[in-house]
Order: sequence, then structure tokens, then C-alpha cells
Amino acid sequence: MSELLQKLGVEHPLILAPMAGGPSTPRLAAAVSEAGGLGSYGAAYLPRGKVRDVIHEIRALTSRPFVINLFADDGVAAEPVVLQEAQAAVAKYREALGLPPSAPPAETATLAEAFPVLLEERVPVFSFTFGIPAGAILDACRSNGIVTMGTATSVAEARALEAAGVDCICAQGADAGGHQGTFDRNAEPPLVGTMALVPQIVDAVRVPVVAAGGIMDGRGVAAALALGAQAASLGTAFLLCPEAGTSAPYRTALRQARDDSTVITRAFSGRAARGLANRFTREMSGAPLAPYPVQNSLTREMRAAAARAGDHELLSLWAGQAASLAREIPAGELVAQIMHETAKVLLQLKPEA
Ligand SMILES: Cc1cc2nc3c(=O)[nH]c(=O)nc-3n(C[C@H](O)[C@H](O)[C@H](O)COP(=O)(O)O)c2cc1C
Repeated sequence: MSELLQKLGVEHPLILAPMAGGPSTPRLAAAVSEAGGLGSYGAAYLPRGKVRDVIHEIRALTSRPFVINLFADDGVAAEPVVLQEAQAAVAKYREALGLPPSAPPAETATLAEAFPVLLEERVPVFSFTFGIPAGAILDACRSNGIVTMGTATSVAEARALEAAGVDCICAQGADAGGHQGTFDRNAEPPLVGTMALVPQIVDAVRVPVVAAGGIMDGRGVAAALALGAQAASLGTAFLLCPEAGTSAPYRTALRQARDDSTVITRAFSGRAARGLANRFTREMSGAPLAPYPVQNSLTREMRAAAARAGDHELLSLWAGQAASLAREIPAGELVAQIMHETAKVLLQLKPEA
């Protein structure tokens, strides 16, 4: 058993990636932890006061370790001119749905508001993306036995996470579904693929590395281990599980996904994220956008209305490049199948004695 699995108290080198904004549910996280993997919950968009409820819900379903994930960057306000242009760009979609041009800001808890709850609740693992939380937060985790996991999309980010004292690093390749965890909100993400990124990060740091991006089955988990990762983090693979909160139109779009279906877009949130291409990503390509989280607020009601209407053309359909390999089975069965496949692949690769 690897150093990381021992530290986490987890049987399998398989982590359910956090998926904020709907797909993450306490049921999904608990099902993966109960199956011997490490379940995660993406709590980044939860309103103030809801974070504790979610932790209690997970604990009611499993006594095993789990991860709560937050964003290390709360984002910035938009300059008035930028806001005006961004509002104009989404106006026709909002208008068609009967929404006013301006959108109310989210009720989302900031990192400073949400983290104290994680601390009070002594969550087993705190993972984060979009940068490095303040030193006081990492210190508090260390002195309270909370394992920390930071996301890196480059070797430089991985080195910075290690220097800040995080316990393990999730190397997120460009193949990954959802937001690229790149620290600098204004920079284009480096887009290094998982296969290239993981071994370079493994060589650059001493802390355990987790591989994420495009991993869907035992072949992918075995490959991640071969590259030097101590575990694999899978998001898209779990989107069609019945326990996931994936909406019906999102599921419909995922069932049609092919290898070339995804694009990187900032149109929904202001931050670069990979999802299935649709009318909104196509029409908004090159349009003026507000920074995160303002753009996210501008599109929130539109996305909610589209989901209610069963329309996947105006929804954020976060998915990795191997989405076509997603299986529609319960999460616990998926963990068991993937671990069975991993063992088979590793055995096949073993040289003859
Ligand atoms: C729907 C969805 C939502 C995501 N939300 C988060 C999140 O809240 N926090 C985070 O750190 N990563 C998030 N990610 C990225 C995952 O942590 C992970 O890097 C990614 O799922 C790995 O690639 P894969 O989807 O190909 O397995 C999300 C990914 C997806 C697909």
C-alpha cells in the first residue's frame, strides 16, 4: 500500500474527483468511500450555511474518509465597462428566458467563510483548486490532522504547493473535465496532457502525486500508477452513476459524447474549463466575458432554466476528453469494476517469471 493510501486510510488508489455545481452529492461521495475508494464533494458553490449540512449528510452515509473541496480563489469584481460588455453578450440568452440583463451575485460562501466549518468538523481531507490557500489555513489543517491536497496544472504550480507544505498534489492534465485548476486566473492554462504532466510532477516533488484527467477505467488507473502517481482521481467516469446529481439533459449529452466532443471555454464562468461543446460555447467563442465569479453569476439563471427545460445547448456540460467511456452503473459497482480491471491490466503487464 502506498504512502498516500496509508495516510488517507483508503484501500484503493481511486479517488472520486470533486464536482461542484450539481454532480457532487453526499450519496455519490459516500458510495465511493464505502466501496474502498476516496469519495469527494465539491462544495465550492454551496451557499453559506450549507457546507456543514453536506458534511453531516456524508457522515450519516459512511464512516470512511472523504474529501471536501473548495476553490482557493474567490475571484474578482468586474470593471464597469467589462461588466457592461459581458452583460450585453449574454443578454439575448437571458432575455429569451425572461431574465433581466443584470444578474444577482451568488450567495456562495467564500473560502474564508467555508473553511472554518471544515476545520470545526475535522473533515478527513481538504482539497482545493485555483491556487494555494493562506498559510494559516494550511497550518490549521496540519495541527488538526486534516490531510491537504492541492491541484497543479504545471510543474511550477506543483513546486509551489509543495513549498507551501501541502500533503499531496493532484496533477490535473488538460484532458480533465471541468475547470482547469491553473493558479493565475488571467493566464491561459498551460494545457499539458495528463500523460506528460504526471511524470514531470512526480520527478519535481517529494510529496505523493495523484493523477487526474481523462482516466475512466482500469487501463487509465494502471497507467497513472505506471507514471508514478499513487492514486487516480476520476470525475467524468462517475457523471452517469445514478448517485450523481448530473441533470437529465447533461446525461443525454454525455451519452452522445465522442473523443472530439469537448472544448475549453471561459464562457460559462470566466475561468477556463473543459466541457462538451454546445450552442453556448460555439456562439460565445470570442465574446467579451467578465472574470470569475461575475461571468458565473451572469450565466447561472440561464443554466438553471435550461436544465429545467431539458435543453443541453445552454448548460455547462463539464466533461473530460474520454467522456465516451463513462458507464451508467452504481458508483460502488464502478469502483469495484475499475479496480478489477486495474489488477488485470497490471498482471498482464508483468513480465513472465
Ligand atoms: C462536472 C465537473 C465538476 C468539477 N468540479 C470541480 C471542483 O469543484 N473542484 C475541483 O477541484 N475540480 C473540479 N473538477 C475537476 C476534477 O477535480 C478533475 O480534475 C477532473 O474531473 C478529472 O478529469 P476527468 O473528468 O476526465 O476524470 C470538476 C470536473 C467535472 C467533470
